[in-house]
Amino acid sequence: MPRSVSAAVPTSASLTPRPGAPSEVATDEAYWRLVAAQYRVTDAATNMEAGYFGMMAAPVLAAHHAHIDRVNRESSMFARREFTPIMFEARRRTAEALGVSAEELVFSRGATEALQALIGQYKGVNAGDTVMYADLDYNAMQWAMDALAARRGATVATLNIPEPATYENILAEYSRAFDAHPRTKLLLLTHCNNKTGLIHPVRAITELAKARGIDVIVDAAHSFGQVPLALPDLGADFIGINLHKWIGAPVGVGAMYVRAGRLDALERAHGDKGSEQSINSRLHTGTMNFANIMTVPDALDFQATIGIPNKAARLRYLRDAWVNKARDIPGVEVLTPDDDRLVGAITGFRLNGQTSREANAAIAGRLYDQFGIFTVARNGIAGGDCVRVTPMLYNTPADAEKLVSALRVMAAR
Ligand SMILES: Cc1ncc(COP(=O)(O)O)c(C=O)c1O
Repeated sequence: MPRSVSAAVPTSASLTPRPGAPSEVATDEAYWRLVAAQYRVTDAATNMEAGYFGMMAAPVLAAHHAHIDRVNRESSMFARREFTPIMFEARRRTAEALGVSAEELVFSRGATEALQALIGQYKGVNAGDTVMYADLDYNAMQWAMDALAARRGATVATLNIPEPATYENILAEYSRAFDAHPRTKLLLLTHCNNKTGLIHPVRAITELAKARGIDVIVDAAHSFGQVPLALPDLGADFIGINLHKWIGAPVGVGAMYVRAGRLDALERAHGDKGSEQSINSRLHTGTMNFANIMTVPDALDFQATIGIPNKAARLRYLRDAWVNKARDIPGVEVLTPDDDRLVGAITGFRLNGQTSREANAAIAGRLYDQFGIFTVARNGIAGGDCVRVTPMLYNTPADAEKLVSALRVMAAR
């Protein structure tokens, strides 16, 4: 396959969309061509696997290069004399975008580091207590919950998100699980899961949990920039995010959020002797990737120009462009509901009832090898494995059509 990279395009053209509701902006193909041109996408395949990490747009990449150059040139003089206020400003901007105060956030290298700190340092689980998570939560976070339970002599309760999922049956399943495990102290809850793309009704589940005295750690790795997001709306006190998926910052930037007044629920990071009242004492990353943090405001600026509601509407439009047709193909089972409360860009599907790891890896492999469409197989779902499709702003309705045509061929036995 060819492996060229399209040439950078001038970025001076205004990326501000014409005034209109996000649903109108979502279908303005001329506008989205302009946006797509900001992404220097390889033509090796049609990439519909933006769920791993989000490509930097050309202006963000250029800024990142300039920041790397500066850090390298000015070296420790930069790090010791200049970086701190730049980092504080990047944190302020991030907090502002998320609707929280800067003191409630600390930068991490990704959602994993933030969530491992939250889970691993959570104090409120003791011998005989229960910790809980669902099949659709991220595998590595499930492992962290298992490890916490093992260290504290607690038990692990799991639940399976129903298929097909509805707003009501998800809530009912969490209620049932809480009733069945009255000693539950801590719940891991993913906002948008990485397996099927289902957006879980976090606010409603968190309210159920809090009413029972259960703390909730929210995995929002896929939320910031995929859908409009204000962290207080999730209703949780502990949240892990990253900025390298849907905000399009360089790979290696995330953040840990702890609601004001809840730091006491977390041990210090590895005996950190910084201020007990500072969130920095709960996540100590050591020497930071300076250039990554410096690029955060550039990435936020790029997102703000488009507008997250417009971006979310476009992503949903691209998702619907393949899902609405795929649902009618005999043999294709779309796993992610159309309910606006439960879906963003990501959607999983199964083909001809195949649920094994091998079969789904083969489906993703054939989509790539035979049809030039890059997706990924996902595991850990109680109902069986699936293939995940994640469009991004560089994708087009024609890409969605290409996927539908491939699924028609592959579904036919
Ligand atoms: C749901 C979910 N949680 C956590 C992570 C880990 O994120 P990060 O790469 O920022 O460590 C991912 C990454 O794919 C994810 O999808």
